Amino acid sequence: MNYTGIIDKYRDRLPVAPRTKAVTLNEGATPLVELVNLPRVLRRDVRLFAKFDGLNPTGSFKDRGMTMAVTRAAEEGARAIICASTGNTSAAAAAYAARAGMACFVLIPEGKIALGKLSQAMMHGSVVLQIRGNFDDGMRLVQQIGARLPVEIVNSINPYRIQGQKTVAFEVIEALGAPPDYHALPVGNAGNITAHWIGYSESAGAQTAALKVSPGMRDYGRRAIADRRPVMVGYQAAGAAPIVRGRPVENPETVATAIRIGNPVSWQQALAASRESGGWFSECTDQEILRVQKLLARSEGVFCEPASAIALAGVLQDLEIGRIGAGSTVVCTLTGHGLKDPDTAIAQSAKPLTVDADLTAIERLISERLPGTAATSS
Ligand code: F0G
Repeated sequence: MNYTGIIDKYRDRLPVAPRTKAVTLNEGATPLVELVNLPRVLRRDVRLFAKFDGLNPTGSFKDRGMTMAVTRAAEEGARAIICASTGNTSAAAAAYAARAGMACFVLIPEGKIALGKLSQAMMHGSVVLQIRGNFDDGMRLVQQIGARLPVEIVNSINPYRIQGQKTVAFEVIEALGAPPDYHALPVGNAGNITAHWIGYSESAGAQTAALKVSPGMRDYGRRAIADRRPVMVGYQAAGAAPIVRGRPVENPETVATAIRIGNPVSWQQALAASRESGGWFSECTDQEILRVQKLLARSEGVFCEPASAIALAGVLQDLEIGRIGAGSTVVCTLTGHGLKDPDTAIAQSAKPLTVDADLTAIERLISERLPGTAATSS
């Protein structure tokens, strides 16, 4: 049967009625890719998996939450949605609003969102408001507008977003047959780590304080399909690490623009997830984020955006210091596709070689670079 997205697949575990018609782009069912080369290259005894949520329809995990938020908004008769965004939420909101025939307003920090994401919000016909301010300013304004105008907020303070995003945990358990020992992910506004934890908790038939924040939400279909929950590990960029440092960051800065956030909305829920799971938050430098983004692309053929690479960068750091023990099974959620941010990818890669359309010249260039020749064996 044709796969039709997370709402149809997990209807009995989501806050939707049996007859609710999903606004869907067939999101979810993303691959869990085992990273087979990295442990060998790094000489680490670990089973590493990438849950490649960048392969969702708009290229990020936001689609899991957006199908729920827009489905419910449509059901309740909303005609317009709004969000603040570092890029991916705006791309997903714009696409699902288009699907539902709704108007969409997005507030983005001027000049600070990756090109691919901006092109999506524009192409799907949303009204793009570039604000002279950062994501946190946008988030505050969206909450104020939501109270004044008939627009549904589709940021992760919308509890349906978190509910949709929890399905990633269901898929990981299905793919592995059990939860991993550790689940690592980037933390920006902190909704996704909350969602992962709710999904794992429900799957283990366990309670979590992370659910409390969602007004009107209850536990949907707690069912013990797993006998335990993973340790949740969240990573923030060094220049935007409010949770790690224990206080808001006034002017967050990082090359990983998706997580350039100084005062996350789901801070408390993320802390609950971390505490209950026996996990931790840690930070990575921009340099390390970019190094690992490239390492992943070159050694495994997996291209994710910088913010996503931090999950793996953090895991490699924590393997190094023994915080993640030998023999562990670790899943990293790769939250967004590398194509979202072509500028950053190109800036850190070797320039293309420009050459005449001439057989001899091209043959020479290739010969010099074949495996085993001087130029490649260094
Ligand atoms: N990774 C990517 C690629 C993201 O776009 C985001 C958040 C995160 C990780 C962090 O997830 O906020 O749930 O902790 N992007 C939001 C946006 C803020 O507007 O697109 P989080």
